[in-house]
Amino acid sequence: MGTVTQNNIVRNERADFLPLQGTDYVEFYVGNAKQAAHFYKTAFGFQSLAYAGPETGVKDRASYAVRQNKLTFVFTTPLRSQNEVADHIYKHGDGVKILALKVEDAFDAWEQTTTRGGKSYMEPVTLKDESGEVVISGIHTYGETVHLFIERKSYTGVFMPGYRKWDSLYNPVQTGLLYVDHCVGNVGWNQMNPWVRFYEEVMGFRNILTFDDTDISTEYSALMSKVMSNGNGFVKFPINEPAEGKKKSQIEEYLDYYDGEGCQHVALATENIVQTVTDLQSRGIEFLKVPTSYYDELIERVGHIDEDLAPLKELGILVDRDEEGYLLQIFTKPIEDRPTLFFEIIQRKGAKSFGKGNFKALFEAIEREQDLRGNL
Ligand code: FE2
Repeated sequence: MGTVTQNNIVRNERADFLPLQGTDYVEFYVGNAKQAAHFYKTAFGFQSLAYAGPETGVKDRASYAVRQNKLTFVFTTPLRSQNEVADHIYKHGDGVKILALKVEDAFDAWEQTTTRGGKSYMEPVTLKDESGEVVISGIHTYGETVHLFIERKSYTGVFMPGYRKWDSLYNPVQTGLLYVDHCVGNVGWNQMNPWVRFYEEVMGFRNILTFDDTDISTEYSALMSKVMSNGNGFVKFPINEPAEGKKKSQIEEYLDYYDGEGCQHVALATENIVQTVTDLQSRGIEFLKVPTSYYDELIERVGHIDEDLAPLKELGILVDRDEEGYLLQIFTKPIEDRPTLFFEIIQRKGAKSFGKGNFKALFEAIEREQDLRGNL
């Protein structure tokens, strides 16, 4: 019985104090939200969802929410200078401001995290309209990035109070993007471990994978990375920091151009990467390319895969295997003029890892682009 009791104590100590139901939405602060929303509809196949702005009682900004399956993106732009959205885009350019997490209890999420040292961004507020109520609270994370906790169990409206339904005559077809697989943060020199501790202590995450500079270095540059996961694995945040190399780390280039720490990439899941990437490419999304020699020994390295090699090679899709299965992935070029945010498209076939076997080929491809910008 003693053993059972002990196990119970251990289990209780490890009980998830911040149960997360997944990513609720990702909000980008951008120079022109109307055009950004159009771009994400056109290029990525998102659908119009909701709008907030002066017409809905919001005076200082306009926001467009778009959706594809379980993915919700919000694009927000300032209507005047001298507000926090304007300051954010002046400093960082277009980028991710909010990684919003869906919770059962936004008041409890705020209490649990702020009592553990999280810096409050927003005390719990209840927003109401005729469709019910949404409770929102939030804490700061790296750079000027924020985690909002969204409780929407008593809400039946299209997005949240303050927004109205956005009907559009322009509805490009979807591209098979399903949900956020993970969001990666770039932090400064020697800042990876402090942020790992933040996710452990303040948010109850675990470090599930670590890559040091011997895993992630090319001839020229290096980085280190630790993957943080919440209790149920629905939310994963890898954290990168630059490492010393012969030349400038891709993480340093990001930090220079974003003017600080921030979200480097958001990985979007699909169940048919060949079809999704074919669609995205035909709509103008540009992807990083690895040399075709990458495919010469691919099957020897990863073993049997269900997909034909030819379309993978044609599109530049990468493959890696771990103990549990394999994954297919590809990375876009930066999605704005600053070399900052990009997207990953990922299809998991059992693998729960992040494509370590592709790092070298991938980072050499990133460095070729970095070199073209004169930043290597
Ligand atoms: Fe990734």
